[in-house]
Amino acid sequence: MRADTFASIDVGTTKVCTAVAEIGEEQAIRILGVGVCPAKGFSRGMVDNIAEATQSIADSVDKAERSSGTRILSAHVGITGSHIQSLNNRGIAAIPDRSHPIGSDDIERVLEGARVINIPSNREVLHAVPRYYVVDGQDSVSDPLGMHGQRLDVETHIVTASSSAMQNLMKCVESAGVEVESLILEPLASGEAVLEEEERKQGVVVADIGGGTTGIAVYLDGSVYHTSVLPVGGNHLTRDLVAGLRCPYVVAEEAKAAYGHAIPSMVDAAEMVDLDCFGSERQKSVPRRRLCEILQARCEEIMEMVMSEVKRTAHDDILSAGVVLAGGTAKLRGLDILAEQVTGMPVRIGVPRHLQGLSETLDDPAYATSVGLLQWALKENGMLYAGHRSGPSFAFGGWLRRVGQWMRVLMPE
Ligand SMILES: Nc1ncnc2c1ncn2[C@@H]1O[C@H](COP(=O)(O)OP(=O)(O)OP(=O)(O)O)[C@@H](O)[C@H]1O
Ligand SMILES: [Mg+2]
Repeated sequence: MRADTFASIDVGTTKVCTAVAEIGEEQAIRILGVGVCPAKGFSRGMVDNIAEATQSIADSVDKAERSSGTRILSAHVGITGSHIQSLNNRGIAAIPDRSHPIGSDDIERVLEGARVINIPSNREVLHAVPRYYVVDGQDSVSDPLGMHGQRLDVETHIVTASSSAMQNLMKCVESAGVEVESLILEPLASGEAVLEEEERKQGVVVADIGGGTTGIAVYLDGSVYHTSVLPVGGNHLTRDLVAGLRCPYVVAEEAKAAYGHAIPSMVDAAEMVDLDCFGSERQKSVPRRRLCEILQARCEEIMEMVMSEVKRTAHDDILSAGVVLAGGTAKLRGLDILAEQVTGMPVRIGVPRHLQGLSETLDDPAYATSVGLLQWALKENGMLYAGHRSGPSFAFGGWLRRVGQWMRVLMPE
């Protein structure tokens, strides 16, 4: 793997996707290769069988290596699951020498301070994302580097995760022969991939509805304000069809994609679909509307859960840009219309943006996380590129050292 080549692994409940990219023109991402395979050993976004999960990751990495012609030594890995919690916290630092402008060491110090929160010993701070800085009471400073002041505050969004969930995931990736460069919260990655800057500024919710989870990220004033993961997703829709139509899971899964619609009144009332069902009479003819009604009920429930999570922290009035749906379930026909009805906000389906190269496979809401992981990793390093002209490998080195600090905390050897 060359120094300017980097990889991401999205370990979803239904698929593992490894993507290899390099930095293209104007810091955009050029995709070199993708490896997707069905996920085994995961439940609701978390590892539930180490051996199976490791094998799925290894298969996906192997495919991505063949597709990109590179060897993947390390990767940025997505983490999700209902163990994720978040809060906003402020860090404060005094600037000792008034004659000197604020330097990167002061910024690092204040960010370190914001990370110090009281959490149980079985949890770890996954992210401390700076939202804005305050220099001597001057609010909403986006970059305090070079400014003069005596006191620097930073408002951060802190994400914490269960230490054991992190360790299990890292163990699987490392057993698959890949070093974990960083763990990144999946809904944050999805937000990175599908959102426009203007949406983030005006207030927006990203709901990545995958197979076993729904990842939520709320953005206000240009930065992330709240993140959360709900243990519901498209698999629940399929299971409802299994129960409602009495058919095997694979049949329900196919029928959902082929005939599913979140608004039953938008399908022809007379249309019948033939399904292989349980029982003596294998082939059953089912009204398509009936199938859609089952889906509609669960979709409404998921969107209501998303909204109640959002309303816990932010008033929906200030989220002018509404909701952007991502994840494989966002491909269900009519889900955007139903989401508009339930939330009373504008809704659109988000697909990954700003990609170059082999990006056809990733041009799909289900790959928002995979692409976003790459973009998040690049953004973290981009801040370093700006200050140092010595190129990506230097920047990655500096960043890796920081990641290494908490990895050592987690894996004492
Ligand atoms: N055309 C479609 N219509 C409806 N649902 C679909 C369609 N295509 C895929 N899905 C559903 O999308 C879900 C998979 O989405 P995705 O790939 O985003 O999940 P994942 O990342 O593996 O899981 P998670 O993020 O929850 O861990 C499955 O439940 C699948 O049935
Ligand atoms: Mg996912």
